[in-house]
Amino acid sequence: MLLINYLLLFAYFLFPIQTDQAVHSVSSPSGNHTVTVELTDGIPSYSITRGDLTVVEKSALGFELREEPDLTGPFNISDYEITSFDNTWTQVWGEKKEIRNHYNQLKIYLDEADSLNRELTLVFRVFDDGVGFRYEFPEQPNLRSFQIMDELTEFNLTGDHTAWWIGAYQWNRFEYLTNETPLSEADTVHTPLTMKTDDDLYLSIHEAALVNYSTMTLERTEGNRLEANLMPWYDGVRVRTQAPSVTPWRTIQISDTPGGLITSYLILNLNEPNELEDTSWIDPGKYVGIWWEMHIDKSTWGPGPKHGATTENTKRYIDFAAEHGFDHVLVEGWNKGWDENWAESGAVFSFTEPMEDFDLEELADYALQNGVRLMGHHENSATIEHYEEQVEDGFELYNELGVRAVKTGYVGHGQEVFWTDEDGNKHYEWHHGQHMVNHHQRIVELAADYNIMLNVHEGLKDTGLRRTWPNLMTREVARGQEYNAWGDNYGNPLDHVLYVPFTRSLAGPFDYTPGIVNLLFEEYKPNNRVNHTLAKELALYVVIYSPLQMAADLPEHYEERPEPFQFIKDVPADWEDTRVLNAEIGRYITTVRKDRNSDDWYLGSMTDENARQFEINLTFLDSDTRYVAEIYRDSDDADWESNPYGFVTESKEVSSDDRLLLNLAPGGGQAIRFRALNK
Ligand code: NOJ
Repeated sequence: MLLINYLLLFAYFLFPIQTDQAVHSVSSPSGNHTVTVELTDGIPSYSITRGDLTVVEKSALGFELREEPDLTGPFNISDYEITSFDNTWTQVWGEKKEIRNHYNQLKIYLDEADSLNRELTLVFRVFDDGVGFRYEFPEQPNLRSFQIMDELTEFNLTGDHTAWWIGAYQWNRFEYLTNETPLSEADTVHTPLTMKTDDDLYLSIHEAALVNYSTMTLERTEGNRLEANLMPWYDGVRVRTQAPSVTPWRTIQISDTPGGLITSYLILNLNEPNELEDTSWIDPGKYVGIWWEMHIDKSTWGPGPKHGATTENTKRYIDFAAEHGFDHVLVEGWNKGWDENWAESGAVFSFTEPMEDFDLEELADYALQNGVRLMGHHENSATIEHYEEQVEDGFELYNELGVRAVKTGYVGHGQEVFWTDEDGNKHYEWHHGQHMVNHHQRIVELAADYNIMLNVHEGLKDTGLRRTWPNLMTREVARGQEYNAWGDNYGNPLDHVLYVPFTRSLAGPFDYTPGIVNLLFEEYKPNNRVNHTLAKELALYVVIYSPLQMAADLPEHYEERPEPFQFIKDVPADWEDTRVLNAEIGRYITTVRKDRNSDDWYLGSMTDENARQFEINLTFLDSDTRYVAEIYRDSDDADWESNPYGFVTESKEVSSDDRLLLNLAPGGGQAIRFRALNK
């Protein structure tokens, strides 16, 4: 049960509306952040400070609408409220079990000064780890159905910060490498947009609870000033909505350290609580699958002599999963529709009919008998109308067969999604405009009806909806491991996964599909490889969180390398707690997480091309417990380029009083399981 405490707040200043200015402020619970909302000649703006530092200077608020006057003021303040909230809630699964949601809120009710008298409400929630704010459109006579042509929300930053970003409006959606530049070199970018100021403050701008609205990108309009740039519909309208409604939250996470951004749960806190009464079927876990073998061209998705998803091959994976304790076996290429051009939008898949050489029912049964489940696959190549016609039948079938998780896929260029109007005209939409936001919402709710957990590839960026819909487990929606199999320039550069924790992963879980132990796979793809050491590949399981975590390599490759495989078998996908021990964005990171179902802790540490040594204080371990540290490290001569397999396992007894020296090779890493000994 939620416990809501409304208290009158001390930290605000109200100046009665005189001739032309009204100012309201509210501070975070510890007082470190303050938001000030001003109306100057009736025009609203906000600013944010942290102690003596300004984080966001006076920034605009409001909307341009279609065929009606803009909603920008002048306004009067008809009322305001300051309230306080403090509650701890339990995640169904996640990187931390108990999350404290503690903020002070300022709500300002605006009334248009002119005769239209339209109303707009501004809501600011101020936390110790940042700020979230949104607009509410109350029910009212002069604003019913309306179309937003532009959201004018600004983030007027205080300097030319170092920025980590990927560009928006590109054909390959979110699948780009992170740029590290001065903010002034960014144009229009996706969020999360992470930045570092000259005062060593780390900021990340994103959004929370993206529902029935369009995805926000950020456009640098001038200097250090960013403005919300919403992905448009085919006709330029940004959002079609009606009153009453609310916008997503615009979020700014603020921390003294890069790790503080990672352990900020502000985005989850701004989402609505869990909607699902029964969550007993939602279970984080690990999976293997008929997947990497297609990416490295050992087999094919489509039918033919190299078809991967055969009954026989699937049984091999099921046996392997059962023997090694995996929960699901993903099978891609099981269904009709995988012709040679499947990646082109317009491909027509069946989501109920298997290929001739794949006995779906027998295999689903065989899996259950062996204590595992098939993981379903719905690649729709962004052919949304076609997918929506069949998806319910597909989920129903999977549900009947005991399938609990489905990976969806929306391969297709950025603006290729279409829908057909009554006159038969096709309208092409962006993958992350409102049209698709609504599609993804329908799918997650439908999946919940059939007890299906989702793993979404090429979908939308995460905005924390997993809190409300905890069957929305994980997503790719970034440049994943698959690029190592076929990407240009040998795939992902070795620092890619060192940017991800501070950018893409701030949005939510990322199915990077880790676990490639045959790093060079020369026999299949001599010109591609994984660009780091074996120990660093293991560290990914701890550093990059996903509640459905893949062991992506082929069974035969794990059999050849049982030592690293042991860590992959042991590492959980659900955590009690998470801490970041050290980090520099794009350079190195060391993360520790406590298993949610035991007293064990796990550590993952990764570096860029530079070898590094870290002395780690083990004070995070429980003080009354002794542990065996099972260490998976780079050998002394390991090097990502010349000796990626240089790898050592060793173990030693430790306690929270000890310190450990981590030696990371160039492009290397380290993974440790701290196995708790009986108390
Ligand atoms: C792209 C996805 O990211 C990948 O995981 C999948 O194997 C292919 N599409 C086919 O669906």
